Amino acid sequence: MSITLRKFVDRLPKMSTIKPKHKDDKGAYYEVRMTQFMQRLHRDMRPTMLWGYNGQFPGPLFDVKQGEPIQVKWMNDLPSRHILPVDLSLHGLAELPEVRTVTHLHGGVTQASSDGYPDAWFTRGFEKVGPDYEQEIYHYPNNQPAAALWYHDHAMGITRLNMYAGLAGMYIIRDEAEKTLYLPEGKYELPLIVQDRSFKPDGSLDYPRQPDDPEEGWPDPSVVPFFLGDTILVNGKVWPYAEVEPRKYRLRILNASNTRAYALYLDSEDYFYQIGTDGGLMQRTTKAKKIPMEPAERVDLIVDFTGLQGKTITLKNDLGPNADPEDRTNDIMQFRVNQPLAGKDNSNIPRKLIEIPSLKKNKVQTIRDLKLVGTTDELGRPLLLLNNKKWMDEVTEKPRLGDTEIWSFKNLTTFTHPIHIHLVRFQVLDHRPFDLDAFNETGILTFTGPATRPKSNELGWKDTIAVPSATITRVIAHFVPYAGEYVWHCHILEHEDYDMMRPFTIVDPES
Ligand code: C2O
Ligand code: CU
Ligand code: CU
Repeated sequence: MSITLRKFVDRLPKMSTIKPKHKDDKGAYYEVRMTQFMQRLHRDMRPTMLWGYNGQFPGPLFDVKQGEPIQVKWMNDLPSRHILPVDLSLHGLAELPEVRTVTHLHGGVTQASSDGYPDAWFTRGFEKVGPDYEQEIYHYPNNQPAAALWYHDHAMGITRLNMYAGLAGMYIIRDEAEKTLYLPEGKYELPLIVQDRSFKPDGSLDYPRQPDDPEEGWPDPSVVPFFLGDTILVNGKVWPYAEVEPRKYRLRILNASNTRAYALYLDSEDYFYQIGTDGGLMQRTTKAKKIPMEPAERVDLIVDFTGLQGKTITLKNDLGPNADPEDRTNDIMQFRVNQPLAGKDNSNIPRKLIEIPSLKKNKVQTIRDLKLVGTTDELGRPLLLLNNKKWMDEVTEKPRLGDTEIWSFKNLTTFTHPIHIHLVRFQVLDHRPFDLDAFNETGILTFTGPATRPKSNELGWKDTIAVPSATITRVIAHFVPYAGEYVWHCHILEHEDYDMMRPFTIVDPES
C-alpha cells in the first residue's frame, strides 16, 4: 500500500553548499556525518525517516575548484539496524555488520585508497571495518575538467538500500575554461537530483522485502531484480516547482534513482541546449527535445525561459506509447516563469564549448569482450552477471597503467544496463545491433545493422553508458593516472548488488 501525493505543491529546495572545517597546506578539510533523521518530503505527508550526509537528503553540495585538492572525513553515525530490508543470503552478508557504509565519488579521478571500494566499508565510529579498508580521511585531488560529479554510498551488497535510504549528494568541480563561456551562473544554475521513491501511508520509505512472486525457499528479505518507485522527487521534494525569471537557466541534472531511467522533455516543446555530460562540457552544444537518462548519468542543460513570462512549464518524463495511464511518474517538476527579470540576461548558449582530444588517436593495447548476462542462482532467483563472473571471483580485467583499451559490452539480456567504470572517463565509440535470439540459440553472432555513432547525449567524457539489449556498445578509455584496485559495474543498484559488479586492477608495469 502506498500513498498518492498531490503534484507541484512544494517549492524546489536549494541545496546547501558544505563549508570546510579548516584549510591548510593539504587543502580544505571537510567532515561529513551519516545520520538517521526525519525530513518532510511533501506538504501532505508525515516526515520520512531517512539516512543522509550531515542530516540532509540529498546530502550537501560540494562546490570546488579544479586543482584545489580537498580532504573529507566520512563518518558513520548511523544506528546498528537498517531501516530497509537487508537480504542476508547474498555472499557472506550474514557474517557482516548489518549497517556498513563507504562513500564513493562517482566520476572522480581518485586514488584507489580514497575511491570507496565496496569492501572498504566501516561501521559507526569505525568500530568495524571491511577487508579492504585503508583510511579514514579521503583525498580528492580535483585534477579534472569542470563537471558535475556525485557522491554516494557503495557498501558491498547493500548499496541499493543505503542509497534508497538517502545516502547521495552532488559534487561540482569548476574550472577557468568554463568561466570564459559565460554560462548562466549563481542562482541561475540549478543542480537537480532526480530520484524515485514509494511511501507508506505513514510517510516511511516503501521498498519491497521480496520480489513480487517469491518462490518456495526464497529468503525473506530477498533482493529484488529492479525497483521502480511511484513518486518522483527532485532535491528531496516530491514533484516540486521552481519560480524562475524569463531568462536562461543552467540545469545540472543527475539521475540518482535505483533503477529508473527517464526520457526528459518540456511540455512547452521547447528545446534543451545540452552543453555537457557525465565528465564535463562537450565540444559543442547540441539541441534536443528529448534527453534520455539512465541511473548515474548527468546532463548539463541550458533552457531559455526568455519571453515565457506568465507560463508554467513542466519538466516531463516520457513513459512511451504503452504507458499505464495510472503511472504518475510522467512528471518530474514544474518551472513557473513568474519572477520579474532581476537584470539583463548576459549569459550565453555558446555553440563551441571546449576541445576534447579524441582517444581514437591513441594506440589501443587491448580490446576486451565483456558480456552482460542474465541467469538464475541456486534458488532460481534472477542473477545478473558480467562475463558470467561474480563479484567474489578473481580479477580478470587488468589494464596496464597508461594503456588505452576498448571495452566492448555485449548485452545478452532483454533490457538496457547503464555500465559505469571507476577512475576513467571514457569516450563512446559506437553501438551495433545483433540478433540476440540467434546468438542465444547458436552462439553465433550475426549483426542486424551497421554500427551507429554515439547519440548526441553520449558525446564528450562519459563514465556511465547505456548498453541497450542486443547491442555491442564500445567505449575507449585511457587508464591513467593511478594504479590500483577499482570496480566497474551496472549502475542499476539492484543489479550492482547482485551481482553485476566486478573488480578491476590497473597494474603499474614499473613497480
Ligand atoms: Cu556511482 Cu561505482 O558508482
Ligand atoms: Cu563511480
Ligand atoms: Cu543492470
